[in-house]
Amino acid sequence: MKKKILILSGGISKERLISLDTGLQVAKELKKNGYKIKISEPDNNLEKNIKKFKPAIIFNALHGQFGEDGYIQTILEQFKIPYTHSGVIASSIAMDKEVSKKIFIKNKINTPKYIKYSFDKKKLDLIKIIDKKLKFPVVVKPLNEGSSVSVYICTKKNISRILNSMKNYKQIMIEEFIGGREIQVAIMGNKKLGAIELKPKRKFYDYQAKYNTNAKTQHLIPIDLPKNKLDQVMNMAFKAHKIIGCKGVTRSDFKFLKNKFYLLEINTQPGMTKLSLVPEIAAHQGISFKNLIEWILKDASTKK
Ligand SMILES: Nc1ncnc2c1ncn2[C@@H]1O[C@H](COP(=O)(O)OP(=O)(O)O)[C@@H](O)[C@H]1O
Ligand SMILES: [Mg+2]
Repeated sequence: MKKKILILSGGISKERLISLDTGLQVAKELKKNGYKIKISEPDNNLEKNIKKFKPAIIFNALHGQFGEDGYIQTILEQFKIPYTHSGVIASSIAMDKEVSKKIFIKNKINTPKYIKYSFDKKKLDLIKIIDKKLKFPVVVKPLNEGSSVSVYICTKKNISRILNSMKNYKQIMIEEFIGGREIQVAIMGNKKLGAIELKPKRKFYDYQAKYNTNAKTQHLIPIDLPKNKLDQVMNMAFKAHKIIGCKGVTRSDFKFLKNKFYLLEINTQPGMTKLSLVPEIAAHQGISFKNLIEWILKDASTKK
């Protein structure tokens, strides 16, 4: 008899809808392959659901806050049931764009320069500081969101207005803007799986460019890069995956400008719909969606 898998999806983050989609598609694939599936929200019924269903493995299809940042992983640890992707500490480090950036810098992984901005400490001369340390335009982003939620490119003219709209975050990151190409790399355990280039038609790879097919972002695979450059970006993603202590599959987001790669972030819960980037990279390497999901399940049961 095939195993029972509990799929965790939905949640309360701003990426709830994407997570529900990931959950449904993983469920569909696993059902097709004879697994017994239950989909659960990470809510007050989770413990009851787990105890009643008794899954062999929990497939974490959550994204964003409380699903990707170590919180749910901490809760899952207590059930002593294997769960997919990264554990508590790697998840919380990777989700925090500042903490992970400090680790990238320490380990000589190139990443855009940044300053942290706290709304409670008034920096009256913020524009001067930016002019001196980063130069405009800059990118402002929350420290712990995903899917480009609340990521904005700012000029001197519109930065005050945009910062005003982000006050609920308390702290945000202001990064130098890196033009150039958008490249993402998938790591699968010890395997440098591959890379994909995104060519958004929009101003940048924002939420619409990611999920609205009408926005017509082009996906380019294989990437038009010389072998040594492709190796370089794959090695950077692999190093980030390892030093942060990630497990399973991760996807690292890069910008490539003037022959230099800049690591923006590493994602420990990459999207897993059939149209998501990791499945697309896997397919290009001859790994079907079915085999990718099967590998993730098998990996959940292994120690790092
Ligand atoms: N420093 C930057 N320079 C240029 N574009 C950026 C920069 N930071 C973010 N972006 C754009 O915003 C997108 C989302 O940013 P990212 O840091 O990956 O956050 P998220 O977790 O929301 O995906 C990136 O894929 C890129 O298109
Ligand atoms: Mg990203």
